Amino acid sequence: MKGRFITLEGGEGVGKSTNLRYVQQWLTGQGLNVVQTREPGGTPLGEALRGVLLGDQAEGIGAKAELLTVFAARQEHLDKVIVPALERGDWVLCDRFTDASYAYQGGGRGLAFDTIAALENWVQGDLRPDLTLLLDAPLEVGMARAAERGQADRFEREPRAFFEAVSEAYRRRASTEAERYAVIDAAQDLASVQAQIDRVLSERLAPWLEVSS
Ligand SMILES: Nc1ncnc2c1ncn2[C@@H]1O[C@H](COP(=O)(O)OP(=O)(O)OP(=O)(O)O)[C@@H](O)[C@H]1O
Ligand SMILES: [Mg+2]
Repeated sequence: MKGRFITLEGGEGVGKSTNLRYVQQWLTGQGLNVVQTREPGGTPLGEALRGVLLGDQAEGIGAKAELLTVFAARQEHLDKVIVPALERGDWVLCDRFTDASYAYQGGGRGLAFDTIAALENWVQGDLRPDLTLLLDAPLEVGMARAAERGQADRFEREPRAFFEAVSEAYRRRASTEAERYAVIDAAQDLASVQAQIDRVLSERLAPWLEVSS
């Protein structure tokens, strides 16, 4: 059976990491081998670049350099982790992926979507996620949840307009690529969010799981 590639997206603190664990348990419950990973990161080089991107070392970094650093980490992640896993037939579950580049470096930093698409095509070939869960919540909700976790990283210190542009870019992508995306109302309590995720996974994954049995 072919492995599938599922990503979780959304702004700061909406519950991506929390719900990634829920999706992992759901898939494991179906008897699937799941590789759980994240971006930027997922490899030693990628995690080192993540540290640079989120920390003070990258203070004042230009938008293009930021985008290229994200894609450098992504290339390594694809080559060393994601593609080998999918080729083995494992399912890959990733906390953020290229949609985040469109949202943050495109929407947030104002880089042209065409430039990001060119890098996406070069780095990924025709590999795209099979399903993307967009956790959508008003900015205040995510910010309040993120704030509870302590010190803000370099992105979390951006002004409100940056995050509005990020959210807008995510929503636009979800509506133009509706067949790949499922939008989850992440403002609700965790049990309701997970009930929505459960419904989406049951519906969207059914055809793929039937093929394998
Ligand atoms: N639906 C929810 N209701 C209330 N609290 C939640 C909900 N989902 C997640 N949380 C809490 O909000 C905080 C942030 O969640 P989490 O770390 O999963 O978000 P994230 O999207 O991964 O954040 P980041 O963008 O910083 O990686 C955690 O303390 C988590 O327990
Ligand atoms: Mg997280």
